[in-house]
Amino acid sequence: MIQVLLFLLLAVLLLFLLLLPVMVHDGTSFVTREYTVRSDRVRGSHTLVFLTDLHGKIYGGDDAAVLRAIRDAHPELAVAGGDLVTASEADPDRKEWYRGAATLLEPLAGKLPVYLCLGNHERKIADPEEGKEICWEQYCRFLERLGIRIHRNDHTSLEEAEGKTQISCADSGIDLWSFEAGREEFQRCRKHRITREDVAERLGNPDPERFHVVVTHHPAHFDACAAWGADLCLCGHIHGGVMRLPGIGGVISPDFVLFPKYSGGKYEIHFDRSGRRVWSSGRVFSPQKTPPVPAGGRRSVMVLGCGLGFHTIPIRIFNPAELSVIHIEETEKENEGESASGYFPRGCRISAAEGGGWNQFR
Ligand SMILES: [Fe+2]
Repeated sequence: MIQVLLFLLLAVLLLFLLLLPVMVHDGTSFVTREYTVRSDRVRGSHTLVFLTDLHGKIYGGDDAAVLRAIRDAHPELAVAGGDLVTASEADPDRKEWYRGAATLLEPLAGKLPVYLCLGNHERKIADPEEGKEICWEQYCRFLERLGIRIHRNDHTSLEEAEGKTQISCADSGIDLWSFEAGREEFQRCRKHRITREDVAERLGNPDPERFHVVVTHHPAHFDACAAWGADLCLCGHIHGGVMRLPGIGGVISPDFVLFPKYSGGKYEIHFDRSGRRVWSSGRVFSPQKTPPVPAGGRRSVMVLGCGLGFHTIPIRIFNPAELSVIHIEETEKENEGESASGYFPRGCRISAAEGGGWNQFR
């Protein structure tokens, strides 16, 4: 018996030593992943960067590499999907407890509009029951100084989200929504019960003529948001599932769910003309296996970012952090005869902002 235990201990130790370089690499670097979604309700071609689950991490002391990657994606908008800060670090006596978020957001704001929604950590800090009101006020004041507004169960068009930016877009047909479920929906080991009706109760009804991007932190709410009418959901929270396995996806979520159905990447649900769900991509998206959407039906896509940082389980194995770049485009057919406007996305113009320039991004 002792020999078996010793053998198991040695095997675990060996595995740990073999995986150590992967853990160090994946825990200290990030990749840029690009996703494209097309719809005939979109006009032109638009690019967003999606930042989620930073958890205060700073790459290289000043985030220069992340900012370069954002600049190189030529986005019109940065969407922050929650958990840029960590609730346990929120301490009014600790100066700049939100330094990680500040390092990334300060150079971004002013160059790009930032559409910011809350994750479970921001919500915890904002909750009066947690006794962190001073921290929440500090963070809100900081965001206000940058001209960044917090979005909670509201919506705006892509054009209205511009803020202090160099780029302004012609009518894109795109609406941005934020959906927040109750805090109890983030409790560990909980079965999620958000329904289409819950989403409609908070957001109202979607305009069938518009393309709806819904930012909701927890991917468990994708099915309900899709049934409500979301064309694209942007989610985070799962951090890629700590370790990623081919054909399976992530191993464990921060909620301690083993092999979560949604752990990172792109997912798709199809509905028929009557709104009945007829197909879903399951835990791993495969473009080869995706059937056409039924005539008169619609598709709903989720991009689940693997996050830029980590928390709860501070390990990444075959699961580097991710900067998500989302392209939202007109369907190919409708694009015929149009040409891209070069450096900036089609449908956008560059205003002569004083002293502006993407080169000023670090
Ligand atoms: Fe989260």
